[in-house]
Amino acid sequence: MNGKTLLLGQTLGFAGDPFSDGTGAARHDAHGGVLIENGRIAALGDGAGLRAAHPDAQVIDHGRALISAGFVDAHAHYPQTAIIASWGKRLIDWLNTYTFPEEARFSDPAHAADIAGRYLDLILANGTTTVASYCTIHPASVDALFAAAQERGMRLAAGKTCMDRNAPDTLRDSAQSAYDDSKALLEKWHGKGRLSYVITPRFSPTSTPGQLSALGALWAERPDCLMQTHLSEQVDEIAWVKSLYPQARDYLDTYEAHGLLGAGGLYGHAIHLEPRERARLAEVGAALVHCPTSNTFIGSGLFDMAGLVAEGQRIGLATDTGGGSSFSMLRTMAAAYEIAQLRGHALHPAQLWWLATAGSARALRMQDRIGNLAPGMEADLAVIDLASTPAIAQRAARAGDLWEALFPTIMMGDDRAIAATYVAGRPIPRTNA
Ligand code: GUN
Ligand code: ZN
Repeated sequence: MNGKTLLLGQTLGFAGDPFSDGTGAARHDAHGGVLIENGRIAALGDGAGLRAAHPDAQVIDHGRALISAGFVDAHAHYPQTAIIASWGKRLIDWLNTYTFPEEARFSDPAHAADIAGRYLDLILANGTTTVASYCTIHPASVDALFAAAQERGMRLAAGKTCMDRNAPDTLRDSAQSAYDDSKALLEKWHGKGRLSYVITPRFSPTSTPGQLSALGALWAERPDCLMQTHLSEQVDEIAWVKSLYPQARDYLDTYEAHGLLGAGGLYGHAIHLEPRERARLAEVGAALVHCPTSNTFIGSGLFDMAGLVAEGQRIGLATDTGGGSSFSMLRTMAAAYEIAQLRGHALHPAQLWWLATAGSARALRMQDRIGNLAPGMEADLAVIDLASTPAIAQRAARAGDLWEALFPTIMMGDDRAIAATYVAGRPIPRTNA
């Protein structure tokens, strides 16, 4: 959009991390404004003041709705869009029964393009403006997602999933082809516009040590890229990893020994961690990505949010669709709340909102660009209707402060709560969802 646009509404951003700095780190303005120019936030402040200072701006008045940074989903599998909510399996069975047959269909570039577009439209309708997604082993599945993100102007991170064992023939690459294809895709897409390539070994059971080493070598050549994988999601999986890598000290060591442990590493799930693993992850400043709807849906376990936060771990929040059961980061925050409750801790709404925006942006090392409202940040925004259903509205009507007004939407909200989504300052039409 050319020229200036001024959005009016309540605004919510963060001046710090509500886990370490307290809920006072939140910045709420009940009558705020966000001035957008050239796809970025040019100014943030009192709505009436900004309106007087910028009489030339086009005004979009969102009334009592809450203007926030768009949600950042730090771990998802776009190829699993069409198999979300598949019944009755746990991780390894679920992969073999539902996931691998669907991922095999991505050898067809037309199928990949269809699902990539459908997926991005679904997440935008849910207020998510950036995702770190796995693709399939097919390079065309990566091209399809990056092309669809480029069309929509989105900041997006993704990579070719690499697997050279314990997967069907049609879904296996090799150590060499995984290295070559990943490198070619990285050179084609990384840093192009708003796109980032992520080196993506699926997890240790589906890679030989040779493949992990090859991808570790690629990461050493290109440390400017993120690396994403899965870590310690289910107890059976961990036992399998130990049998496949008998010399490894623990699951993390299968990555560490092959050059796949580092600050730019994103480790999905990280539920059943041993003390050495926790110490090493904190030491290198790697990111742990909590996927709460997936953890309950596939029956994986209860993420230790309070303990990991206390250790200073870098933590992101994610849907993990389609192992996760929702495209919505609202539903994902609700599940994170419920899991923390089962472990005896109540996450504050400020902490949940921070995890879904600034925290996940920090996990992706994009916190200087997205995930918060501040001058200079990219104008990727979600506008939240705090009374989107009768059930939510009647509870929010009793609220004494912002957090009481917001929490019913966190717990009960879905895409109906997303009044608008903006990508680089451009409103996204709601027709495709
Ligand atoms: N571990 C390896 N692959 C996957 C996947 O696709 N989903 C989940 N939840 N866990 C995994
Ligand atoms: Zn996953």
